[in-house]
Amino acid sequence: MAYIEKEFAPTVADNPLPYTPEVAREMAPLYEKVKEVIPPVEWPQMAPLIKAINELKKQRNAVILAHNYMTPEIFHCISDFMGDSLQLAVEASKVDADVILQCGVHFMAETSKLMNPAKTVLISDSKAGCSLAESITPQDVRALREAYPGVPIVTYVNTSAAVKAECDICCTSSNAVKIVESFDSDKVIMVPDEYLAKYVATQTDKEIIAWKGHCEVHERFTATELEEYREANPGMKIIAHPECPPEVIEASDFTGSTSGMINWVKDNRPNKVMLVTECSMSDNVAVETPGVEFIRPCNFCPHMKRISLNNVYEALLDLKEEVTIDPAVAKKARASVERMIQVAS
Ligand code: 13P
Ligand code: SF4
Repeated sequence: MAYIEKEFAPTVADNPLPYTPEVAREMAPLYEKVKEVIPPVEWPQMAPLIKAINELKKQRNAVILAHNYMTPEIFHCISDFMGDSLQLAVEASKVDADVILQCGVHFMAETSKLMNPAKTVLISDSKAGCSLAESITPQDVRALREAYPGVPIVTYVNTSAAVKAECDICCTSSNAVKIVESFDSDKVIMVPDEYLAKYVATQTDKEIIAWKGHCEVHERFTATELEEYREANPGMKIIAHPECPPEVIEASDFTGSTSGMINWVKDNRPNKVMLVTECSMSDNVAVETPGVEFIRPCNFCPHMKRISLNNVYEALLDLKEEVTIDPAVAKKARASVERMIQVAS
C-alpha cells in the first residue's frame, strides 16, 4: 500500500521507490519480455515504478493509451493499449474506465478527450508538444478558407483541437489518402504537414494544396543517409513514415503509419530492417520480432521523450495534468474527428 496511497508515497525525485526482493520477483516476468532493449543496470530504477503505476491504475480506475513512440518500459510494461494516432483515437472512444492517461503528445491527449469527453483525460507532461501542431493556428486555417473558397480542408491529427475545429475533416497517416479521395472536389487543402501532403499527392489524382509545416524528427532524415546505410547493409529493407521528405520516401521500400510500419515488419520478418522514424519504435518492435535485426538511424522526438515512468507515476498519484477543451471548440473539433472515423477508421 505504501506505493499507492498518495499521503504515504514519497515523490519519485526525492526518494525513489525501493527495489526490494518482492519487487524484483514480481516484476521478473516483465523484465524477461524487455531484457533485449533495457539494460539490467536500469531495471532496478524502473521496476518499482512499474509496479506502483500498475497498482495505481487499478486504484484510480485508469487505463493507459500509449503511442508507438513511447520508450519500451512504458510501451511494454504499463500500457493497456498501444497504437498509432488513429488506433488511439478509436480506442479512446471505447474506454469505460474513469481515467484515460495518455502516454504520447498533447494533441493525442486532446483527441482522446474529444472522443470520450465524459472521462478524465490526463497527460503527465502537458508541454509534450509537436512541431507540426505548433506550425499552424486557427487564424491560418481561416485565411486559407478565404484564399481558396469552397476547397475542402483536411487537417492531419497532429494539430490542436482549435485547428481541427476550423477544418472539414481530420486524417492520420494511415488514412490520409482515403480521406482526401472522399471529397468530390478536384482540389483539397492539407494542413499542416507538407511532406505528408506531398506523399498523398503521389497516391491520388487530386491537386493537393499543402501547408508548410514539418515534423522536426522526420525532416532530418536524408536520402543520402539512407543510401549509405543501404550500402553498408546489403539486403536490408528500409521502411519510412510519410512525414519524411519525398526523397527519403522514394529511397524506401515501404511507407506507412507507425502501426503500418510495425505490421510490415511483423508480416515480412526481414533479416535486417531500418525504421525511418522515431527511435524508440525499433526497440518496441524488436521485443516482438526476435530474429529481425534493426539498424537504427535514431532521431528522438523530444516531445514524446517528456513522458517518463516518473511523471506517469506522479500523474496517477495526483490525477494531473488534466486535459480540458473549450466546449464550443470541442464540438466542432469532435465533428472533424468523427467524420474521419466514419469515412476511414
Ligand atoms: P502515426 O499516426 O503514424 O502514429 O504518427 C504520429 C506521429 O506523430 C508520427 O510522428
Ligand atoms: Fe510531432 Fe514529429 Fe514528434 Fe510526431 S515525431 S509528435 S510529428 S514532432
